[in-house]
Amino acid sequence: MYDFDTILNRRGTNSEKWNVAPGELPMWVADMDFRTAPEIIDAVTRKADSGVYGYTSVPPEFAKAIASWWYKRHAWEVDPAWVSYALGVVPAISSLIRTFTKSSGNVLVQTPVYNMFFNCIRNSGRKAVTNDLVYENGEFRIDWEDLEAKLADPKTSLFILCNPQNPTGQVWSREDLARMGQLAAANDVVVIADEIHCDLTTPGIRYIPFASIDETCANNAITLVSPTKAFNIPGLQTSAVIASNEDLRGQARQSLRRDDLNEPNAFAIEAAIAAFTKSQRWLDELRVYIHRNKEQLTDFLARNLPQLYVVPSQATYLPWVDFSAIVDDTTELTEFIRKETGLFINPGALYGDNGKAFVRINVACPSAVLQDGLYRLRTGIDAWVARAEETKREGAPEDASEGQAQQDTLLSVRGGRDERKPHIL
Ligand SMILES: Cc1ncc(COP(=O)(O)O)c(C=O)c1O
Repeated sequence: MYDFDTILNRRGTNSEKWNVAPGELPMWVADMDFRTAPEIIDAVTRKADSGVYGYTSVPPEFAKAIASWWYKRHAWEVDPAWVSYALGVVPAISSLIRTFTKSSGNVLVQTPVYNMFFNCIRNSGRKAVTNDLVYENGEFRIDWEDLEAKLADPKTSLFILCNPQNPTGQVWSREDLARMGQLAAANDVVVIADEIHCDLTTPGIRYIPFASIDETCANNAITLVSPTKAFNIPGLQTSAVIASNEDLRGQARQSLRRDDLNEPNAFAIEAAIAAFTKSQRWLDELRVYIHRNKEQLTDFLARNLPQLYVVPSQATYLPWVDFSAIVDDTTELTEFIRKETGLFINPGALYGDNGKAFVRINVACPSAVLQDGLYRLRTGIDAWVARAEETKREGAPEDASEGQAQQDTLLSVRGGRDERKPHIL
């Protein structure tokens, strides 16, 4: 049994996530509040103890570890020769955008989606074109007509697919992936499949690598993977670019070299190999823990804030919560919650216009910390509702009874509210 319950003090450790004011609780950036797998800690410690941190090359064991992991865990036969090291998924995406699109060309993404895609596209002087996922019956689905039209635009030469999708947590089905692959290939649009979240599926759920679907997908795909998300080592900066198509692979490699993204730091390789060859048991226990945390959040909201709806997800530790019963845009509300309670969560607008009424909450933390976050969330929303009611009463006193009824609805509970608890951090 691995320990995911111990509360780590990450303040004052140069943690980007925890670079917050005293008393604040960050549940934003995708970084987990757990120590990584002991096998990775051993590998990094051994390297640290050597005292030698020179320029580092990438041994064949790196690609072999990745190929073996994807074959065993995800039934995709990867030839180690298809694998190249890259400093990170985001820098690799930026580099590939510059290589596979013309300046001022279009890059297609499906929103709501990981916000850094927009930065990579804009900072490279390209235009982000969005195929907005359709939110219907509490789930997101693809608008195929729109996707086809946007892929057919001659200015679009690249499609960044997020599989599984961050922030909706969707694991794309074989049918969806095959259809997306066919449409992209038919329109000569190269697909970058960002599969960084693929090892964080709900226990029992398998993701399907885009490039493993069929020849059409394989020939047209550049897949980006990494041990950093699943094993919580993003500060070690290591990822891999996989392409079976020789031409795409050659261009991708040249791109990584041109942008100096092909040399690892002294710890990256040892950590990645330890992750993919020795840390599967740790990962499987982590997935169970995350699943329980997601259930903890869902149960808490059902009892205490039933007007919030958790979009069903099969992957990631980043529940995507529908706040539309309270606000149309969560930007101001999340700022308010932070000011009132210290809870720092991501407003959905970051991920595209159709994410505005949502909030992304990072639940990859000890269960007790999550509980603290949930109490803060309830406190913040209660205060927001109370303030809204006050403003309404001041503005239109005759509406007071209607306002009270609305607040009663908002605070209504299934099975009774949880007892109010003090913050633990
Ligand atoms: C979809 C997606 N891609 C890439 C990254 C970051 O990758 P890297 O740290 O390797 O640049 C994240 C981080 O959350 C992500 O969610």
